[in-house]
Amino acid sequence: MAERIYIFDTTLRDGEQAPGISLNQREKVEIAEQLARLEVDVIEAGFPVSSPSEFEAVKAVAKAVKGPVICALARTERNDIDWAWEAIMFAERPRIHTFISTSEYHMKYQLKKTPKQVLELARDAVAYARKYVENVEFSAMDATRSDPKFLYQVYAAAVKAGATVINIPDTVGYALPDEFAELVKGVMENVPGIENVLVSVHCHNDLGLAVANSLAAARVGARQIECAVNGLGERAGNASLEEVVMIINTRKDYVDLTTGVNTREIYQTSRLVSMLTGYNVQPNKAIVGDNAFAHESGIHQDGVLKHRVTYEIMHPEDVGLVESEIYLGKHSGRHALKAKLEEMGFYLDDKGLERAFIRFKELAGKKKEITVKDLEAIALDEIRTLEELFQLEYMQSSSGTGAIPIAAVKLSREGKSYEATATGDGQVDAVCKAIAKATKVKAKLVSYQVQAITKGLDAMGDVTIKLDIDGHEVVGRGVSPDIIEASARAYINAINRGIQKGLLEKKKLARKAKAGTRSKVSSRKAGS
Ligand code: KIV
Ligand code: ZN
Repeated sequence: MAERIYIFDTTLRDGEQAPGISLNQREKVEIAEQLARLEVDVIEAGFPVSSPSEFEAVKAVAKAVKGPVICALARTERNDIDWAWEAIMFAERPRIHTFISTSEYHMKYQLKKTPKQVLELARDAVAYARKYVENVEFSAMDATRSDPKFLYQVYAAAVKAGATVINIPDTVGYALPDEFAELVKGVMENVPGIENVLVSVHCHNDLGLAVANSLAAARVGARQIECAVNGLGERAGNASLEEVVMIINTRKDYVDLTTGVNTREIYQTSRLVSMLTGYNVQPNKAIVGDNAFAHESGIHQDGVLKHRVTYEIMHPEDVGLVESEIYLGKHSGRHALKAKLEEMGFYLDDKGLERAFIRFKELAGKKKEITVKDLEAIALDEIRTLEELFQLEYMQSSSGTGAIPIAAVKLSREGKSYEATATGDGQVDAVCKAIAKATKVKAKLVSYQVQAITKGLDAMGDVTIKLDIDGHEVVGRGVSPDIIEASARAYINAINRGIQKGLLEKKKLARKAKAGTRSKVSSRKAGS
C-alpha cells in the first residue's frame, strides 16, 4: 500500500519571508483556514519572537484553526522557545520547531560558535521545548553543506533529547536530487533512534530543484515534505506545495506514495495566497498557472476534443478549477451575493460583505456579465483591505490630449479625513502623488504591474505595486474595473502594509532621535 507523505506548509513562515510580503493577522488566519480546508498536515504559522505583531498573528491562527498541527518556529534560544509556546499553546495540536545551523560556513561566520557549542544548543533547545509540548521538530540549517558526520551527531543528540521530527533542510538550494537522497539515506542509516521519528525535508529552489529534491528524498524514506503555496519563500522560494502534491497524486503508479491533501482546494488556495501576498502566479506555472490546462495548438485541441487523455495528464477539476456559471446581476441582493460567496469559500463579516456588495453593484452597473473571477477578486480585495488603516473614500482623476493629468483623493483613517490633489505625468502618477501627499508617506515606486482578471474590454484590472519605504520593499494590490482606481487601491494597500510593518513608525522615531541629538548638541553649544 502507498505510504503517506505528511505535507508541512510553510507559506505563513518561510513564504512570508519573500521580499515585500507582509501579511496582517486577519490575512494569516484567512490563509490558515484555507490551508485547513486543503487538509495539509502541518501549518507553520510563523516565527513568534520576531515581532509582537507576528506573535499575535501566530496566536490568532493557533486559536482559530482546527485540524492541522499548528507549528511555531524558534531558534535554539530559550527565549524564542518561550515565545513560540506562548503563541501556540491554545492550538488543538501544537508543535515547536527549533533550528540551528550546522555547516562550517554558518557556524564560523554567522553564529561564531564551535561545533561543540552548536551541538549543546541543539540538545538543550529540544529538551527545553519538550517541557512544553510533546511534538518537537528539530532542523539543522544548511544541512546540505554540513559535514555529514557532524550532522549525524547533532541529529542523534536531538533525537535523544526528545525530538519527534528531524528536518533536513537544503537551506541554500544547493543539492542535486541524487546527492540529496544520499544525504537523507545517510541520516536514516547513521542516526541512532531515527526509526522512531518522522524524517522531514525542506528544500529551497535556488537551482530550480526544490520539488525534485523533495521527491528524491521521499523515495528513500523521508515522510514529511515542507513546502509553500505557489512555491513562495526566501529568495527563489521553497518547494511548491501544489507541484509536490500533484506529482504524488498523478504518478502514484510510480512513486507509491500518497498525501492527505484535498486537491480540489488547490486552485482556490493558490489564488488566495497570490492575492493576499501580492505575488502573481506566472501564467505557465505548473498546476496553478493560467495556462496550466490551456491547449493552444490545433493538434492539441483536436486531440483533447477527441479524448482528454491525449494531452491531459490531470483533470482541471482535480485541482478545483471549475467553470461555474453565476446568475447574479444588478438586481441581485445581499443575500444572493453572500450565498454565492460562501459557495465559493469566502466568508466575509458584515462590514466586509457590505463593502463587497457596494462594489458588486457598481460592477454590475458597468459590466454585462459578472464572472466567478470578478466575484473572487472583489471578495479577496475585501479580505485584504478590511484591516486597512487608510481607506479610499473617494477619488477623481482627469486627463486629455494636451491637458495636465490631475487627481483628487479623499482617504479616511480612524474617523479622520485626509484630502489632497496632485498633478502627474499620467493619471496613475497623479493619483499616487495625491495619495502620497494626503498620507504624508514618502515612498519610491519600485514596480507597477497591471493585468486583466477576465477577458474583454470591461474586465476588472488587477494592479500590483511595489514600493520602497526607507529601504524596505512592500507590495500592495488593488482591483477595480477602473485601472486608475485599482492603482489607487494598490498604492494605499502598500502604504498600509508599510505602516503595519512598523516602517513609518521606525522612520519617525529615527527622525525624533536625530532631532533630539541635534537639540542636545545645539543646547550644549549654546551653554558653552
Ligand atoms: O531554510 C531553512 O533552513 C529554514 C529552516 C528554519 C528550516 O527555513
Ligand atoms: Zn527555509
